[in-house]
Amino acid sequence: MSEYTLIFLKPSAIKRGLIGEIITRFERKGFEIIDLKMMLMTRELAEEFYAIHKDKPFFKDLITTISGEKIVAIILKGREAIDVVRRLIGATDPVEASAGTIRGDLALDITDNIIHASDSKESFEREVKLLFPEFSAT
Ligand code: CMP
Repeated sequence: MSEYTLIFLKPSAIKRGLIGEIITRFERKGFEIIDLKMMLMTRELAEEFYAIHKDKPFFKDLITTISGEKIVAIILKGREAIDVVRRLIGATDPVEASAGTIRGDLALDITDNIIHASDSKESFEREVKLLFPEFSAT
């Protein structure tokens, strides 16, 4: 079933010049880019976006790593987009991520693992409202 998912490229991906490389992988797989923007990840937005992790030991580092920096936020559409995109990006810890995945090929740090993707339909609904308040499914 065709569905939407949301990804964002973390600030390190932008600083390292990996925007094209990463977007190309989703395009080549066959996903449609529904919306895309470069935007500032404020501390307030980062804390709200990752509120589910606020009691985790890595929360402070995670927020510091991305706050006040530019991200590239993208809505993708395609068959089983949420699961397929998670598989293309690989495990949260780049050390565990398989070769051939985005994190497996391009990242090493666990906090700064270069890309985020929604992990469920519920996460997508919550996250898209934060990054693309104007979005409505067609
Ligand atoms: P992301 O997929 O954006 O979702 C939550 C983020 O928290 C994750 O990527 C990492 O950036 C970070 N994260 C998750 N687990 C850990 C961990 N064990 N140590 C440090 N950072 C983590």
